[in-house]
Amino acid sequence: MILLNPGPVTLTDRVRAALTAGDWCHREPEFAALMQEINRRITHLYDELAEDFSAVTLTGSGTSAVEAMLASFAPDDGKGATLVLANGVYGERMAKMLRAHRKPCELLQSEWTAAIDLDVVSGVLDRHPELTHIATVHHETTTGRLNDMDALGALCVRRGLALLLDGVSSFGAEAIKADDWNLDAVAGTANKCLHGVPGLSFVVARNRLWAQAAPPVASVYLDLYGYYAGQYGTGYSPFTQSVQVAFALREALLELEESGGWRARRRTYVERAARIHRALMLNSVGMLLREEDCSCVLRTYLLPDRVGYTEVHDTLKAAGFVIYAGQGDLAPDVFRIAYMGDITAADLDALCDALSDAFEPAA
Ligand SMILES: Cc1ncc(COP(=O)(O)O)c(C=O)c1O
Repeated sequence: MILLNPGPVTLTDRVRAALTAGDWCHREPEFAALMQEINRRITHLYDELAEDFSAVTLTGSGTSAVEAMLASFAPDDGKGATLVLANGVYGERMAKMLRAHRKPCELLQSEWTAAIDLDVVSGVLDRHPELTHIATVHHETTTGRLNDMDALGALCVRRGLALLLDGVSSFGAEAIKADDWNLDAVAGTANKCLHGVPGLSFVVARNRLWAQAAPPVASVYLDLYGYYAGQYGTGYSPFTQSVQVAFALREALLELEESGGWRARRRTYVERAARIHRALMLNSVGMLLREEDCSCVLRTYLLPDRVGYTEVHDTLKAAGFVIYAGQGDLAPDVFRIAYMGDITAADLDALCDALSDAFEPAA
């Protein structure tokens, strides 16, 4: 089965084989060294992060990394406040997390199909001088939109706002410009653009944050300062880590480095997206967003009136491909297709044939 959902991804044989590398205790030095290697490799994927940032890795899905980032780095009452810019499920979830942790926040909620309007953002910032941080999603997987971080980042720099970024569905395949965006921290996961297995996620944050006196965090498990103290001290993590998933993640990171890093991965996704787009256009299937607004990782297409999601899904699944439904109000009208994972040229040929079958106008 080839997975075209936005993670977990189809594994390469090499990454799958790494899962059975051995039975290791998470409190032995060899596992501590593995965690430290993974943290180093994650940070060094981007030149822009290599110098001034350090990663910590925790056991949990992408949501745990985003929540840990906000719990640990978003300011508490009296220390500032966070403006959440949301144009999809994952941005809205960031606001829910901040509220759950009783952190002061404003939510600027846009239509899911709309870009973040920086004039509106500026207006909110003018009215709320207490705002010190921006929290948003790099690639909003709800629609496939790659938010315009260069424009938003420039605003963060101009106004001295720190950026807390959900990079769960972009880390490893899209550009991250830490200084140009005034980035404080970015959260990511093993099982999307890095092509690892679900179970580990990570937060890459500025060394300045790690070095400060750790503020109290209203969570035991999600306190990233504890992970930092452990992983950069003895090497041990505060809680049991997903050992086999770590073997797979190391292998996935090595594979990514050897294949040319995030830029090469981005090129691969762009090529896959173009190929699949041509097949869909031939079958008169249109896009939800403009091509230039989409990430390289996933796109949302409009279901033609003649066919429903379940029918398309099931036809593709019978041919060996799993696509993904839309979320919320978009669900009846769209489907999503992601380009991550181990997909060969032959898989793409077969997928394009299957798409033609799925969208063939009724005779
Ligand atoms: C942008 C983004 N953030 C967060 C998440 C949540 O990740 P998880 O489902 O691994 O908890 C996802 C999942 O698709 C995502 O795409």
